[in-house]
Amino acid sequence: MIAPSLLSADFGSLGEAAGQIEVIGGDWVHLDIMDGSFVPNITFGSRMVSCLREQSRLPFDVHLMIVHPELFVEDFARAGADIITIHLESTVHVHRVLMQIKETGKQAGISIVPSTPAEALSELLPEVDLVLVMTVNPGYGGQDLIDRTLQKVRTLKKIKSDKEYSYLVEVDGGINRYSCRRAIEAGAEVLVAGSAIFNAEDPAKEIQILKQGASSAVER
Ligand code: DX5
Ligand code: ZN
Repeated sequence: MIAPSLLSADFGSLGEAAGQIEVIGGDWVHLDIMDGSFVPNITFGSRMVSCLREQSRLPFDVHLMIVHPELFVEDFARAGADIITIHLESTVHVHRVLMQIKETGKQAGISIVPSTPAEALSELLPEVDLVLVMTVNPGYGGQDLIDRTLQKVRTLKKIKSDKEYSYLVEVDGGINRYSCRRAIEAGAEVLVAGSAIFNAEDPAKEIQILKQGASSAVER
């Protein structure tokens, strides 16, 4: 599945961009929430998510790159998020926050930055619906994928099949027509892509290329 990230869309017409994601063949809408503290950039909050919600029927994949995510879980749930992903590195009582997300009836995701090992997730994996492996240091679009992070995708896929867990493995950062095959071969099931799609001359075609790269990687 492809989850286009609105981070690289024109912020002056985000509503239109959100509406276009289904038209151009995206599967989820990926929304990057940044607070200028957990990451060195600021985007938007739950009010924006609730306005964008009216523009799309696709699942909203909300990636919280904020400190104290527990303070905002209910807001994003009410705003229309379908999946709420928090960072392992962003708060102390991560398990409690994941339970808080589930109590809102939404799917709960956990994410790790490149410097965090996959093993740090072991106590949480039975509880989550999504594991988001950051393939760049979060904060900006348009960075190069850090190849080493794909080893964590392999590890998480192996744990998933060995233990029969149900989470999806998502990758985010530096995914484009050149890197997507490596990510899929490592086992990624959901690809987030921002600049590759929104800076492309033909975003629909770019999504098709990502999906083709994905299907040929799976066939082999
Ligand atoms: C980065 C964000 C990403 C970002 C990816 O911190 O989490 O979702 O939009 O952008 P690209 O695909 O350009 O690397
Ligand atoms: Zn993201």
